Amino acid sequence: MNLRTLHDLNPKGKRVLLRVDFNVPTDEQRNITDDTRIKEAVPTIKHLVTKGARVIVMSHMGRPKGKIVDDLRLDKVAERLSSLIAMPVKKVHECIGKSVEKEISKMADGEIVVLENTRFYHGEEMNAKEFTEQVAQLGDVFVSDAFGAVHRAHSTTAGLADFLPSYAGLLLEKEIKVLSSILENPKKPVVLVMGGAKIDTKIGVLKNFLDKGDVFLIGGGLANTFLYAEGYDIGDSLHQADKKEVAREIMLETEKDGDKFVLPCDVIVASEASEVVETVCVPVMDIEGDMKIFDIGHKTVEIFCEHIRKAGTVIWNGPVGLYEYAPFEKGTRMIAEAVADCKGITILGGGDTIDAINKFGIDPARFTHVSTGGGAMLEFLEGKELPGVKVLRTMD
Ligand code: 3PG
Repeated sequence: MNLRTLHDLNPKGKRVLLRVDFNVPTDEQRNITDDTRIKEAVPTIKHLVTKGARVIVMSHMGRPKGKIVDDLRLDKVAERLSSLIAMPVKKVHECIGKSVEKEISKMADGEIVVLENTRFYHGEEMNAKEFTEQVAQLGDVFVSDAFGAVHRAHSTTAGLADFLPSYAGLLLEKEIKVLSSILENPKKPVVLVMGGAKIDTKIGVLKNFLDKGDVFLIGGGLANTFLYAEGYDIGDSLHQADKKEVAREIMLETEKDGDKFVLPCDVIVASEASEVVETVCVPVMDIEGDMKIFDIGHKTVEIFCEHIRKAGTVIWNGPVGLYEYAPFEKGTRMIAEAVADCKGITILGGGDTIDAINKFGIDPARFTHVSTGGGAMLEFLEGKELPGVKVLRTMD
């Protein structure tokens, strides 16, 4: 896989700038609602601590666009890390400057400091040399474990590698290994389950899998756009009218391989997204007026689950309905159970997909791999070289 990894690094006594992706979902009081990304970074942090590194943790949270936003400070994340790792974790309130330098100079081997949200600085997203250099001064080596953010060419996800010896952490190494095997040598048949609201982020993956994928199961708002492009009346359903042509192109490409592109044949419609609303399951050709599609229908669930049962590999990104509301959760719940029961390799990713399996109480251990990347996983599966991975590659 030709990445420089922690196996190539003796971190004893070194100041390790460790980039993680602690961009975790929170509720209105900013309490963490899912700490998967923090948990998944723990093995790398423990490895570094055990080997006597001074671990300086960096992450972004949200999109503050170069401004200080108190709600997006990393204090709660640092607290959660401390409780997960059962060690004290010092949180500082900046990423660069005298006071940070002072705290770091006081660190002993095996100690952990968390810096402030990297996106409070304009330089971060611009990968500005000056900012990157200032951060680089704080460390001796750069370790990236931020798989969820490696599709961003930012200072702390990629730029630091210009200034410091750089290595992939254990999580990043695992993600790249599993996802590469899906691209290079997937077990057949390969079934892609794609949902979510929008087509934009899925086009690249669908195109890259035109040859590799055997079945494409399409649900969610994404399916509405394809149904619309096929000429169906989709009532008042969410869709992207401006993506009609690209949707048609993809369907045309798959047509030559028979029925590999599977759109819903029936759907759950209602007048509005609500917990208490009357729903009807209708064949897609019967949608009319102001009906709104909120889930795949009963027959479609059966068809999708049958394909999933027979899969050698399932790649799932995006819920197939508005699972947040009880009347529209059945499709996503049934798909989640079918993927969890599938005997083949099962890979899933994306914030909403992970939120859905958590909501349904499905143990993540029932899947081969739950990726911590949303956009990063999709871009990797598009076949793109991700900037934060590219900088960690060795020459051979
Ligand atoms: C994510 O949640 O997908 C990553 O943390 C990247 O966040 P971003 O889309 O704001 O760059």
